[in-house]
Amino acid sequence: MNGDEKITQELCKESEMKDGEMREFEIEGRSILLVKSNGTFSAVGNKCSHYGAPLSKGFLAGDRVRCPWHGACFNVKTGDIEEYPGLDSLPCYKVTVENGSVHLVTSKKALENVKRVKAMCRHNASNRSTVAIIGAGPAALVCAETLRQEGYSGKIVMVTRENHLPYDRPKLSKAMNAKAEDIYLRPKEFYSQHDIEVRMGKEAVSVNTDEARVKFRDGSFLQYSQLLIATGSRPRELQCPGSTLKNVFSLRSPEDATAVSEEAGGKNVVIMGSSFIGMEVAAFLSDKANSVSVIGKSSVPFQAVLGDQIGALAMKLLEEHGVNFYMRTEAREIHGENGQVKEVLLRNGTVLLLMLCLLE
Ligand code: FES
Repeated sequence: MNGDEKITQELCKESEMKDGEMREFEIEGRSILLVKSNGTFSAVGNKCSHYGAPLSKGFLAGDRVRCPWHGACFNVKTGDIEEYPGLDSLPCYKVTVENGSVHLVTSKKALENVKRVKAMCRHNASNRSTVAIIGAGPAALVCAETLRQEGYSGKIVMVTRENHLPYDRPKLSKAMNAKAEDIYLRPKEFYSQHDIEVRMGKEAVSVNTDEARVKFRDGSFLQYSQLLIATGSRPRELQCPGSTLKNVFSLRSPEDATAVSEEAGGKNVVIMGSSFIGMEVAAFLSDKANSVSVIGKSSVPFQAVLGDQIGALAMKLLEEHGVNFYMRTEAREIHGENGQVKEVLLRNGTVLLLMLCLLE
């Protein structure tokens, strides 16, 4: 069989599927999602373009399927991504109905692609406008890509104070020992292919909206026609005494994640914060540190977002992996010795001996 050879495969009988139903099929090793919506059949790739969840387990509403893991939405008629997270669209396949049977019509080559990047225009020198984007997280990148997808042909300049191309920050708490390049959202060539300029290591210090200029710490300026500020958020700073001691970390950048994962091996680690980041870090470090203790203000982890039952379940799972929890309290003071953390005193009077402290 050559790569372009057509494949026509019967999937099911027309009468077998109800309107609003989704079914998963395996064709040539690829998972395909067949959908019947508003009386017609359509087929797209079944793997979410974000982290690969099976969309057949998601939720279908009209022509949109919502991913079961983090909620990205895709149009089941076109495969286009319509809601973040995730950058790419799904492959879309031809479906025919003949003599009461539903067939997928495709080729082996078409089945090789599990993701589809939407078509984008390039910079046209005659277009003198510039969109400046301060920040280089997913929001900044999606803005740049959407502009090109929608036909914007002016200059796009993305500026970040970090020395990295846009990366998938949520992965930092899940794979703390990953290299920054391993979690880049797009490879380096992508930016030159689509004329998206990324200036790294430049920190914006002010914006003069009257003159439409951004000033950077190194004294340089950038003139813009439109400006997007998408700098993201920062971890909350710990206010108690001792928070500036060595071996007290917060987690925001790949450098922070590397430092924590390198320092934590065989140490007693205290994590302040029991929501997603704190819990993911606890899970990651549970088999690497000597001990992991989580301090949280609520009764159970995730309480505010997922409620008591799920919070208690998550707590039990981590306890089974040796993680200790100190809930309904917070740090009163971190004590040090020779500039290093030594112990943390909690508001409830507990003293934890530690060698590394991570702030969520
Ligand atoms: S895996 Fe689908 S949204 Fe994350």
